[in-house]
Amino acid sequence: MNKKIYLVAGARPNFMKVAPLFREFQKSKYRFSPYLVHTGQHYDVSMSDLFFRDLKMPKPHIHLGVGSGTHAEQTARVMVAMEGVLKKNQPDLLVVVGDVNSTMASALAAAKLLIPVAHVEAGLRSRDRSMPEEINRLVTDAISDYLFTPSPDADINLIKEGCPKNRIFRVGNVMIDSLKFILPLARKKDVFKRLSLRKGAYVLLTLHRPVNVDHPKILKRILKTISKTAGEWPVVFPVHPRTKKIMDEHKMLSQGEARRLTCVGSLGYVDFVNLVSNSRFVVTDSGGVQEETSFLRIPCLTLRNTTERPITVTEGTNTLVGVATLSSEIEKIRKGTEKKGKPIKLWDGNASRRIAEILTKQL
Ligand code: UD1
Repeated sequence: MNKKIYLVAGARPNFMKVAPLFREFQKSKYRFSPYLVHTGQHYDVSMSDLFFRDLKMPKPHIHLGVGSGTHAEQTARVMVAMEGVLKKNQPDLLVVVGDVNSTMASALAAAKLLIPVAHVEAGLRSRDRSMPEEINRLVTDAISDYLFTPSPDADINLIKEGCPKNRIFRVGNVMIDSLKFILPLARKKDVFKRLSLRKGAYVLLTLHRPVNVDHPKILKRILKTISKTAGEWPVVFPVHPRTKKIMDEHKMLSQGEARRLTCVGSLGYVDFVNLVSNSRFVVTDSGGVQEETSFLRIPCLTLRNTTERPITVTEGTNTLVGVATLSSEIEKIRKGTEKKGKPIKLWDGNASRRIAEILTKQL
């Protein structure tokens, strides 16, 4: 009998992580029956449907439709809906990815029903508990049976927290599996040209962390600094719904500043990768973008004090910056003296295969 595996995806960054796993698990050699469960945490066409299309994923088998809410509301709604689905269908394994509310809530529901849980992208720690994702990471790892890690720092974090070594499997980064999958398609697109940008001569900006966008004063300062310091380079800014809400409510920029900033709605994955891979550098507060830019060897300035992905700083192209240090880092890029990065071990497009092989032996 095939093993019934439920793969959970809730929010935008989850879709890229689940897609290569689903594709791999479908191969007949593993004798798995994979099912996609979409919690509905992200529901807009631009935050969800476009990703299913770009990543060539089928419609989810089960949709929980939880939508937005406070952290407790969203977590509780996923738990209640997921408990019902798991009780009814009794999968052999629940696979959760990343660190969003849907990840933690689904893992909790399964663990209490004694359904084994695998966490992909386990062990990452920012050590900043004011980030909701850090709480989600700690809880999910503490109750998961299989911990699939992307890098050695993650293994060390888990061991320090008392996790038994035989639960930890370093497999690499599933996000890079997806990136490699869509890169040929993304390279063929002309999104940057349609925005009147030239290859290697513009800046890509993404911002959605509560700490950067929820307070209008802080967001305003960030946007003003970037539009000023980017100098000759135009800035393209795909705006996340959370950020858009604040920008719509408050006037952020003068006309002159706004002219240097091209705001577009949030983009599908292929279009986004087209913009990243042709940019001169990226300014972001996203987790996944730190990884994608490191793989693509595009300089990345991350507007955060900490990162749960330190390997992107030590081996990749990532540099943590504050609003005050942004201009000096941009100056380095202008002079061509920025960090160049090197390939990161196991970030090679085969992480999903390693996970499937391990699960074949374990289940
Ligand atoms: C969530 C994740 C974060 C991830 C990010 C990527 C948590 C705690 N946070 O943050 O780790 O990096 O997704 O996008 O799980 N909204 C829409 N349409 C949508 C989805 C959301 O308009 O399809 C609006 C919601 O109404 C809400 C805001 O965007 O006001 C934030 O959505 P939410 O899922 O709560 O958190 P994110 O900030 O997106």
